[in-house]
Amino acid sequence: MITPSKRLQSLPEGVFQDLALAKGQRLAASDDVIDLSVGSPDFPPPAHAIAELTKHAAETNQYGYAITALPAFQEAVAAFYERYGVTLDPVHEVLQLAGSQEGLSHLALTFINPGDLVLIPDPGYPIYEAGVRLAGGEVMPIPVDPNTLHPRLDDLSGRDLQRAKMMILNYPSNPTAGLATRQMFEHVVRLAHQHDIFIVHDFAYSELVFDDNEAISILSIPGAKDVAIEFNSLSKTYNLAGARIAYAVGNPTALDCLRKLKSHMDFGVFLPIQRAAIAALREPWDGYDRQRIAYMERRDAFCGALIETGWEVRKPAATMFVWAKTPNGEDSYPFALDLLRATGVAVTPGIAFGPRGEGYVRMAFVRDIDVLQEAARRIGEWLKRR
Ligand SMILES: Cc1ncc(COP(=O)(O)O)c(C=O)c1O
Repeated sequence: MITPSKRLQSLPEGVFQDLALAKGQRLAASDDVIDLSVGSPDFPPPAHAIAELTKHAAETNQYGYAITALPAFQEAVAAFYERYGVTLDPVHEVLQLAGSQEGLSHLALTFINPGDLVLIPDPGYPIYEAGVRLAGGEVMPIPVDPNTLHPRLDDLSGRDLQRAKMMILNYPSNPTAGLATRQMFEHVVRLAHQHDIFIVHDFAYSELVFDDNEAISILSIPGAKDVAIEFNSLSKTYNLAGARIAYAVGNPTALDCLRKLKSHMDFGVFLPIQRAAIAALREPWDGYDRQRIAYMERRDAFCGALIETGWEVRKPAATMFVWAKTPNGEDSYPFALDLLRATGVAVTPGIAFGPRGEGYVRMAFVRDIDVLQEAARRIGEWLKRR
């Protein structure tokens, strides 16, 4: 008999099977699905990154195992991080990853023993919980305040803080689009020092911050490097999501542990992709601002159109997501399923991000403005006739 491990069984079932099925059925019948359910960027990568990738992909000596990062990659990350006011030692404080998902999924296996307690945001990005469960750890959700979008750290008891071995945070946040403040991060770093908690910050949306807001690296907080590492990625900043390249930075002892685990798990990132990433990180690019503005214009057009239909959504200050309460407090999964079946617009039910995501949906503005306006029009008509 083939049976999955207890570890696998500890992961939630594919609760979105019906949703995936409905999307598939609708796509098979027509091509009118507007898929806003996945945060996969639709803008092009920098031309100089593609040029490096194609140039080196044509070289026959680029196809061996990479095993580790090219030193130039680590140096490029360190140089890039200066923009966040953080100085990194490229050799000891930068670890290359095959996507931050890869690193995040191996994180708990590296640090967590069965029964260890990990604090994660609720709602939060799903791999945090899945990774801890796979390692046999225990998850304690920290409620995210629906207004400030910050974790309600004061809700944690002294005992919780004493027991917690690790805390995972993510700003700018998926799914809520919340932003950190320096004060909040200072508080987190203080707690980490006081209670000996290892902090992991996921900074994947560091360049997708709108208006006059600032993306803050937790490593820019004094004392953070003693207690924290930060994940970042080329997926969203440079639209290289399918290329699978990212990195973790910060505490060298922690990175060394992750490096050791990875040395048993993978043989490094395809060299032409590493070279493309080096070019992306190193070369001047007008895309940082252009992209930010393009996302902002989409946000304004999409939110404006949704608000016109009577759905009072909140404009996100960052990321590529609108995080909205369902219009009449409906549960998120049936709402998303009905919406997809009726209109072809696919959104992600908030329950996918934890119990406190219930009653919300996440919509990614990864389509052109006219498509987003069409999505809002369909949603509006459907809401009216329900
Ligand atoms: C918050 C967050 N972290 C990590 C990831 C994974 O990114 P990567 O492509 O680097 O694996 C995503 C992808 O959507 C994300 O939203």
